[in-house]
Amino acid sequence: MSQHISIVEVGPRDGLQNEKSTVDIPTKVELIERLVSAGMKSVEGGAFVSPKWVPQMAASDEVMTKINRVEGVSYPVLTPNMKGYEGARAVKADTVAVFGAASESFSQKNINCSIEESLERFKPVIDAAKADGVRVRGYVSCVLGCPYEGKVSPAAVVPIAKTLFDMGCYEISLGDTIGVGTPEETRALIRTVSGAVPVSALAGHFHDTYGQALANIWAAIDEGVRVFDSSVSGLGGCPYAKGASGNVASEDVVYSLERSGYDTGVDLDALIETSIWISESLGRKPGSKVTLARHAA
Ligand code: HMG
Ligand code: MG
Repeated sequence: MSQHISIVEVGPRDGLQNEKSTVDIPTKVELIERLVSAGMKSVEGGAFVSPKWVPQMAASDEVMTKINRVEGVSYPVLTPNMKGYEGARAVKADTVAVFGAASESFSQKNINCSIEESLERFKPVIDAAKADGVRVRGYVSCVLGCPYEGKVSPAAVVPIAKTLFDMGCYEISLGDTIGVGTPEETRALIRTVSGAVPVSALAGHFHDTYGQALANIWAAIDEGVRVFDSSVSGLGGCPYAKGASGNVASEDVVYSLERSGYDTGVDLDALIETSIWISESLGRKPGSKVTLARHAA
């Protein structure tokens, strides 16, 4: 019997937030709807952040209003503070995500406050979400390395991951923001963090800058993680992590997992078609080896 692994598709948010050219609203809406049609059960719809900081996410409210929502699918959006949460609520977001970091410098550069201040801002968001019946996901960035401070130890990840979990986040997504980590480091990370947060509440979010993401996913699977974030066509990066490339490509993850006997619920052919379509829309080659291989075949 195959085991299930859940994928959180982050392409429309993590993928598009870093695009140089403006991606229009119909393209964003179509991308989300195509990903859902391909079988994705969780698709990040956007981010309610400052448009001065991340201009690409400025129209997230319109995108969230225009998508045709499918029952049983969640459409999380990023909400760094109460202003963001109010915006998300206004468009009836079912799930929101707060995003902190294991490194002080990254926290300052990304959300303009210290780790401690970020937790103070997240608390009212989580409390309001609980009262409204909205689920809250918690991200921790820089779990295997920081663009400003270098190596980050697993011990530095534990306090923020545990605090977010204890505050009420249903899942903690551990982000290798700059994609530097290796499988052995990933194993050590999961072993350490799962001493404080149940492994069933952990997710892996691996950027593929150094080509380690899929290997890191398999290391995390060995340690019991069953939820992974990925981005169609490997789109993306973080505007506050210069040089970081996109997330691991969703097609590569689905191919590797399904061929190894895991069930993801995602139709690989439909995903590949979506990857080709969005890559053409953005005027570039698909960033997935699987899509390139199939396309050439
Ligand atoms: P700030 O400047 O410190 O905020 O930014 P402030 O509270 O001092 O307010 C300043 C202005 O921003 C005010 O407007 C506010 O109204 C406005 P003004 O009076 O000057 O006209 N403002 C907002 N506008 C819209 N939405 C909001 C909001 N909040 C305040 N929510 C803030 C603090 C967090 C807002 C800012 O730093 C920000 O927006 N940062 C965005 C960072 C971001 O989106 N980064 C990318 C996503 S994280 C990521 O990619 C990592 C991840 O993928 C995991 C991984 O890979 O590791 C998740
Ligand atoms: Mg990311």
